[in-house]
Amino acid sequence: MSQHKVNITHFIAGETGLGKSTLMDSLFNTNFESSPSPHTLPTVKLKAHTYELQESNVRLKLTIVDTVGYGDQINKEDSFKAVVDYIDAQFENYLQEELKIKRSLSAYHDSRVHVCLYFICPTGHGLKSIDLVCMKKLDQKVNIIPIIAKADTISKTELQKFKSKIVAELQNNGVSVYQFPVDDESVSEVNASMNAHIPFAVVGSTDFVRVGNKTVRARQYPWGTVQVENESHCDFVKLREMLIRTNMEDMREKTHCKHYELYRKKRLEQMGFSDVDADNKPVSFQQTFETKRSNHLQELQQKEDEMRQMFVVRVKEKEAELKEAEKELHAKFEKLKKDHTEERKKIEEARKKLEDEIVEFNRRKAQYQQMGQSHHTLTLGKRLHSKFL
Ligand code: GTP
Ligand code: MG
Repeated sequence: MSQHKVNITHFIAGETGLGKSTLMDSLFNTNFESSPSPHTLPTVKLKAHTYELQESNVRLKLTIVDTVGYGDQINKEDSFKAVVDYIDAQFENYLQEELKIKRSLSAYHDSRVHVCLYFICPTGHGLKSIDLVCMKKLDQKVNIIPIIAKADTISKTELQKFKSKIVAELQNNGVSVYQFPVDDESVSEVNASMNAHIPFAVVGSTDFVRVGNKTVRARQYPWGTVQVENESHCDFVKLREMLIRTNMEDMREKTHCKHYELYRKKRLEQMGFSDVDADNKPVSFQQTFETKRSNHLQELQQKEDEMRQMFVVRVKEKEAELKEAEKELHAKFEKLKKDHTEERKKIEEARKKLEDEIVEFNRRKAQYQQMGQSHHTLTLGKRLHSKFL
């Protein structure tokens, strides 16, 4: 038998304790290591684990991305944001690999999410708003398979009503969940009938009981046993058949051709690429690139010009400021010079006055001395006269 290798990623979204881990164990008939999550996490965490499994002749590389703490926060917006961000991040990684000049897509570990199993709480009342909002955010990004968890906690008649209510709510809110394809003749009949069972009501268990001569996965209650793989007990087998066998390839293809394609288109448009120009005429990648490049260069040139102009304005402003300062300084200097001249003139005048006074003084002194001398001569003459007479 030829070995066929398949890589598939399941995203498990749903509130804490809804039976997500138990169902994954039941689906792949194994025991994935998992521990219960607390209800007290401040944010939603996503944990991805990859397992290598053998499913009939398929070597399955299965990645399970588990939501931890989903719906436990007061602000429910964060719950779906984490989910949306994770799915987008995987698309982005793939896109970046694809855009590389030297691509190695065959060796690349493709982590894009192929299916989201969305666990609905078996309240019987319909969907919670977080379910509707989250599924609406995701329906163009991933194949959503809604699942009613712990279906053994709801009676058969209630379950039918619950299913119809959920389908109506999804429809009314424009949420498109994954439909099994009916275009391939070999599976169209079974897929069409399975589409009528969505959302699948499932039961999971890690316990086994003996029924007749067989050991089966089941949940035991005081009033009886619910067998996981019994189609009259729940939709588990239908889900497993659709998910792992019949439609695995279609989900992988839809992920690449529909969801990734949409993401890629949006991202390339965001980057400014388009297949048509403003007049709806075809335009090549090369042309768009050239236009973007020249626009960019033009923008740069414009920025440079603006900066240069700004520089000139600044210099002019500074020059004017300096000139003003120089003028002020000059005026100050002139005033000082004037003050100085006046001061000098005053001093000159004072000096002149003083000199005049000195001259006057000396004149008087000389006069006075002369007067003193003639008086002395007169006295001496008088004395001689009296001596000889
Ligand atoms: P977290 O990872 O903690 O968010 O929980 P979970 O969603 O993985 O749930 P888990 O599989 O750990 O199951 C939680 C509890 O629900 C366990 O006690 C399970 O035995 C029980 N449980 C799981 N599946 C079912 C089910 O189909 N029906 C019923 N009645 N109980 C279930
Ligand atoms: Mg779990």
